[in-house]
Amino acid sequence: MAQVKRLAYVQMEATDLDAWRDFASNVLACEVVSAPGAADLRLKVDDRPWRIQVTQGPRNDIVVMGLEVDCGEDFATIRARLADAGVDVRVGGNDACEARGVREMLCFRDPAGMEVELSYGALMRPQQPFHAPLAHGGFVTGEQGLGHVMLVVENVEEVHRFYCDLLGFVTSDFVSTANYGGQKGNFVFMRCNARHHSLAIGYLPLGRRLGHLMLQVRDFDDVGRALDRVHQSRFRQTRALGRHINDRMFSFYVESPSGVQVEYGWGGLEVEAEDLDVKTYDVTSAWGHQHLLVK
Ligand SMILES: [Fe+2]
Repeated sequence: MAQVKRLAYVQMEATDLDAWRDFASNVLACEVVSAPGAADLRLKVDDRPWRIQVTQGPRNDIVVMGLEVDCGEDFATIRARLADAGVDVRVGGNDACEARGVREMLCFRDPAGMEVELSYGALMRPQQPFHAPLAHGGFVTGEQGLGHVMLVVENVEEVHRFYCDLLGFVTSDFVSTANYGGQKGNFVFMRCNARHHSLAIGYLPLGRRLGHLMLQVRDFDDVGRALDRVHQSRFRQTRALGRHINDRMFSFYVESPSGVQVEYGWGGLEVEAEDLDVKTYDVTSAWGHQHLLVK
């Protein structure tokens, strides 16, 4: 079955691009490839020209989730599947594809209203390797894509079915917990490659779509070094170091200038193709990850 293979990119909208430039370079160690004063920020974390775009605007939230398939055949199959299901699908024009650096692109909204772009044939620039602004071992991307996003949705079951039935995501597990920062939480974790999840969904009363974006580093010590940088910066750590119960990610969370949290992790589980049994957990973390800020 043709399926989405990776989280390719995200577009964020933010009120303060200068703060994002500082945060991305000096805390996350992303390479900011946009010149000072540019209309948007492009953040590079690997051989691709960019992976995170931050545009100026009032929303302080994710505005586009970019997903990709392997090839034009899978692209056409999923396009037909979406159309058959009655999804309002728009085809990206030449300018839109060029701006994203893809061969072809579809645009549609998921049942929660999230703007999704589906593409293939992403522009690669191995001749311009990732050059971190400070000493850093790099990020885990490649076949596992950019990382993962946790999206806040009210209609969890409907959104879960949409991503599995139409886009080919596979359910990894569920977390139903009585205490997620002092409130109930019901989350679904879905994968589309070896990364345990590229997409998690659940309801939290945050007032925005993006719960968090996760970036995974190659070197264990880069988690600690990033945490040192957080403590030396004006940005706030929002969850303590910990290890997630399901994807085994060793990580902490930091609040971006948009209020959106970024999870900075190492050691995420790579799921084998034959590991098909769906699991349920009643906590999100084996230890740690205490919520440090109550809003
Ligand atoms: Fe996460």
